[in-house]
Amino acid sequence: MPGRMDHWFPEIWCDRDMKKPIRIHDQAKKTHRQAKVLAVASGKGGVGKTNISANLAICLAQAGKRVLLLDADMSMGNLDVVLNVHSKFNISHVLSGRRQLNEIIHHGPHGIDIICGASGMESLANLTEFQQARLVDDMERLQDNADVLIVDSAAGIARSVVGFCLAADHVLIVTTPDATAMTDAYSMIKVLAANEFDGHMSLVVNMADTQAQAKKTYLQIAKVAKQFLGLTLYYAGSVLYDPNLVAAVRSRTPVITAYPRSQASEAIRMLASRLSSASPSEKQGKPFFRKVVNWFC
Ligand SMILES: Nc1ncnc2c1ncn2[C@@H]1O[C@H](COP(=O)(O)OP(=O)(O)OP(=O)(O)O)[C@@H](O)[C@H]1O
Ligand SMILES: [Mg+2]
Repeated sequence: MPGRMDHWFPEIWCDRDMKKPIRIHDQAKKTHRQAKVLAVASGKGGVGKTNISANLAICLAQAGKRVLLLDADMSMGNLDVVLNVHSKFNISHVLSGRRQLNEIIHHGPHGIDIICGASGMESLANLTEFQQARLVDDMERLQDNADVLIVDSAAGIARSVVGFCLAADHVLIVTTPDATAMTDAYSMIKVLAANEFDGHMSLVVNMADTQAQAKKTYLQIAKVAKQFLGLTLYYAGSVLYDPNLVAAVRSRTPVITAYPRSQASEAIRMLASRLSSASPSEKQGKPFFRKVVNWFC
């Protein structure tokens, strides 16, 4: 039994011969009003989180979803580079009282709303309880007006990164077939397990040379996660190494827009379609932003 029956992301894994993906639960009905939260994380840096987040966001928006994209990289968030948006303000301006939340939302391509560089979340603790509550209310209102909230995390397993992931409904862990990336991805999985993450966890293998290499990468990590942590890590899919993506980054255009028929775009579109055809989960406990604030305060 690979997991609970109420996940937002469809359970996808491969049959024994690794020939075809098996998908279940596509029929489940949407039951939750607030945007479902997908945190995109990794262990190692530079594995493709931001590109996957941004392009996923565009695909979902093209499919008619209301998407909110949060750049939760505390130091070097580069969503603005990938999407070529320029935002003067970020959450730190809200935390310091210089801006209202609605003033820092950037309206990106295809109707995506973007909140850039959630830097300085630690200063949440300096807010009064009243200010914290107001911020949570404002954030929740944003979440209410979206179908999907995608959180582009920073690399590593810093406390600040883990806080966002633990609060999410689904953590999409990005790795490459590189041994160091795999080890670091496993470290992230271990930290989430140690903190009793109760959402859905899946792996996307990026920059593999072949599908076979990507699946092998997934299987190695999933096996260790099952053996030592007792958890099921789902296979969300793969995005092969694609020079078009590199060229797109260079031209500051998301690959899905610059090269819509490229291999990377097709793969990300497939990821997005699995997301949008899936049902939301009714994750227990407090709403996302409340959990984030509790974690940091
Ligand atoms: N599928 C791919 N094919 C080819 N190159 C890729 C692919 N995915 C990512 N890259 C390359 O990797 C670089 C880093 O990608 P990205 O910024 O998305 O990684 P990241 O995980 O967000 O990095 P960080 O940890 O610094 O936030 C891109 O600029 C691009 O050159
Ligand atoms: Mg990034």
